[in-house]
Formats: sequence, structure tokens, C-alpha cells
Amino acid sequence: MPELQVVILAAGKGTRMKSALPKVLHPIAGRALLGHVIAAAQALNPTRIVVVYGHGGEAVPRAFAGSAVDFVIQEPQLGTGHAVQQAMPKLSKDGITLVLYGDVPLISPATLKPVIEGAAGGMSVLTVELADPTGYGRIVRDAAGKVLRIVEQKDADAPTRAIREINTGIIATPSARLAAWLGRLGNNNAQREYYLTDVIAMAVAEGVAVHTAQPSSEWEVLGVNSRDQLALLERVWQRENANRLMAAGVSLADPARIDVRGELSCGTDVSIDVGCVFEGKVEIGADVVVGPNCVIKDSVIESGTRIAAFSHFENAHVGPDGRIGPYARLRPGAKLGREVHVGNFVEIKASTLADGAKANHLAYLGDSEIGQRVNIGAGTITCNYDGANKHKTIIEDDAFIGSDSQLVAPVRVGRGATLGAGTTLTRDAPAEQLTVSRAKQMSVPGWKRPTKKK
Ligand code: UD1
Ligand code: CA
Repeated sequence: MPELQVVILAAGKGTRMKSALPKVLHPIAGRALLGHVIAAAQALNPTRIVVVYGHGGEAVPRAFAGSAVDFVIQEPQLGTGHAVQQAMPKLSKDGITLVLYGDVPLISPATLKPVIEGAAGGMSVLTVELADPTGYGRIVRDAAGKVLRIVEQKDADAPTRAIREINTGIIATPSARLAAWLGRLGNNNAQREYYLTDVIAMAVAEGVAVHTAQPSSEWEVLGVNSRDQLALLERVWQRENANRLMAAGVSLADPARIDVRGELSCGTDVSIDVGCVFEGKVEIGADVVVGPNCVIKDSVIESGTRIAAFSHFENAHVGPDGRIGPYARLRPGAKLGREVHVGNFVEIKASTLADGAKANHLAYLGDSEIGQRVNIGAGTITCNYDGANKHKTIIEDDAFIGSDSQLVAPVRVGRGATLGAGTTLTRDAPAEQLTVSRAKQMSVPGWKRPTKKK
């Protein structure tokens, strides 16, 4: 393919979003609309990407600081042709320039390739036939089917409005030609705007053939102007992603009830129940079962692990054949070995649980190192925070922590030690011994319950 430059138009107001956030920064699948378009552009290996922004001020370039994208401001906004003009000083006269829209997020590189290839002939336009073309620019062809021009809805007479083939707005053309045509644009039209679409008629007048291509699916060229259109495209994207997962061998209880906001990779025969949300980068090994309504962010779950309903993970690593949940919470730095069990209402932060360790009910384990086969009784709490600093709890292999114990860190429980139920451990517990801290049990003979005064 020839050298490619991409201009992304993102200066429009987005009035109908009724939002303080610029429209192109609203997310689909956890990523800004503009981020999707930039990613599609980057997949085409362009020499340069220039984003034209305006509304929302510096929030747009700030959101993409550090990415290999140039920004130019368009102020005031005098139309799509005027917008592309603002980008011209940043572009070279070589190769092909492709124009994309920042609010048409689901466009795919596969659909764009033939548009770019078509530009070798001089002018290429991505068009689509819509059942209802209202609002769009219409593609006007002659009797032989040759494109003559694009006419905007507001400038169109009744026969032109009846045309159902519309301009998606995405065009590609040699950069040098584009520069020349843009220099000649006027605004003598219903909206007093400089229309990018007018370059089509200029190309035709110069004898340049206009090549047209169509997207693989209509949703690729749908724009976002309102929150309901945003929600619609979110569902389209999620469904497409669900289809990809199923094609790769993942079972989904309901492909309409999974949300992936990032990158989810799964081994074979993974099964995911309804209502799960995956964020960031999540890696799931083979034969993992994820129960309903789990939220998993930036985590690794190794093969054979079963996760029961309503479990929550962030920056966690779960080893193979684990049993997690229901209602487990693995916070950043939770690292579980092989065959670890973590049950309901157990919270784990910055802690390692070695192979075979179990914390089955109601516990908080923070800043701790827990050895192999350790059993953490119900209600155990590592008191890791003194109000100013965090301290570490170490529990060596095969220790048994009785229910309702508090381990006041820094503290160590030796190998094979047992803590009696209700222990408040403030000094290290020696290996193999029973340590208890509670007062001796006693009974008071003759004691009577108080009775209500008359
Ligand atoms: C434009 C096309 C129309 C096409 C439609 C597809 C023109 C004249 N018309 O219509 O043929 O069917 O898109 O959606 O090109 N923008 C700027 N600066 C501006 C104006 C627009 O950056 O001054 C950006 C917007 O942010 C948006 C895109 O360009 O991303 C399209 O603008 P919009 O006003 O939605 O398009 P229309 O003029 O309705
Ligand atoms: Ca407009």
C-alpha cells in the first residue's frame, strides 16, 4: 500500500450528548470513541495521524498525551472541509490521505483497506445504502453508475433525497490533490459551511474517477450523536466481542450479558455465566468456570479454577485449580498458588497464599505471606495498619488459625502452629505449639438473668 496519512475529525460540538465531557471522550467498551478510531488508524501503519479538535478544549489532546498522534485546533468550526484544511500544515504532500470521524468509533481496518487502495485512482469514498438516509449526504450517480457528486440533505431536492446510498464521510485521496481541492472550497450552501464533500464534484470535473467501497457491516459507519446511539454501539461492540470469544471456544451463558472493557483472552473450554464484567487486561486459562456477576480487572486466572458468583478481582493472580467465591474480593497484589480456596466475604490485599491454603469464610488478609496448606478460620483479621504504617503478617506452612483471631502485625506464626479460636496475637507464635490469648473460661454458679422491673 502507498504511504498513508490519516486525519480524524473531532471538532464537532456533540450538543445532543448534553455532557460536559467532549463527545469523542465518551467511552465504548471502556475506551474513548476517539481512542477506537485512533486504534483503527494505527492498524493501517500510517506515517502520521492528525486529530482536528475544537469543542471541549484541551481535554481531547490531554486524554491522548503521550500517544503518537498530532493535534490541531479548529476554531471556529466552519465545516468538515474547513476542519481538514486545519490539518494540512501537518501533512506532507506525499501518498494518500484518509479522513476518518472521531465519532464513528467502530470502523474496522479491514473496511478501510479497500478505501485506501481505491484512492490510487484519485478519489475513494466509503458509502452505504440505508433504509432511512435522512440527514446524510447523498451519493449522486449518472445513468452509467458513475459518481458525480455528494449532495447534503439540506441542499438536496426531492429526487436527490430519495437516493438511499449515502456518504459515510470517510474518504481517501492523494494528499497533493486534496490540498489543491481544499484550497478552492467555498461555502455557498444551505449551512454556510465549507463542505469536504464538495471535493468529489471537483474531482469529477477534472476527469478523476470516484471509487466507492462499502463496509462489511452497517454498524461500522454508525456515528454517535446522543447517549442512546452510544448505548446502541456499546451493545453492538459487546455482541461482536462475545461472538469472537465463542468462536475461540468460550461458552457464554448469554452472549448478550457479558461486558468486556479491555482485553480478555481465554483458554479452551472456559465457561462464563451471565453478568460478568472484564476490565483492562484479563487472562483466563483453560477449563476455568466464572460464575454469574463477577467483576475481573487486570488479573490472571490459571486453568481449572472455579469462580463462584459475585466475586471481585483487581490486579490479582489466581493459580490453577482454585476455588474462589461466592462473594470473594481479591484486591491488588493478591497472589494465590495452586488449589487455594477463598470463600465468601474474604478480602485479600497484597498477600500471597501458597499452594493448598484455605480461607473459606469472612476474613481480611492484608500484607501477608501465607504458607502452604494453612487454614485461616472464619473471622480472621490481619491487623496490618497501625493508623500510620502497614506491617506484615507471616504465617508459615501448615499453620492453623482458629476462628475470630486477630493477628496484630508485624507478627509471625511458625510452621505447623495452631492459634486457638479468638486469639489476639501480638507476639510471634512458635512452630508446632498451640497459642491462645483468651482469658480462662469460667462459670458463675447461682447467677440469674436480670428481670424487667415492674
Ligand atoms: C457529514 C457529511 C455528510 C455525511 C455525514 C456522515 C459533509 C459536508 N457532510 O455530515 O455527507 O453523510 O457527515 O455522518 O462533510 N466536524 C469538525 N469540524 C466541523 C464540522 C464537523 O471537526 O467544522 C467533524 C465532527 O466532529 C464529526 C464529523 O466532522 O466528527 C462530521 O460532522 P457532522 O456535523 O456530524 O456531519 P454532517 O455535516 O452532518
Ligand atoms: Ca454539520
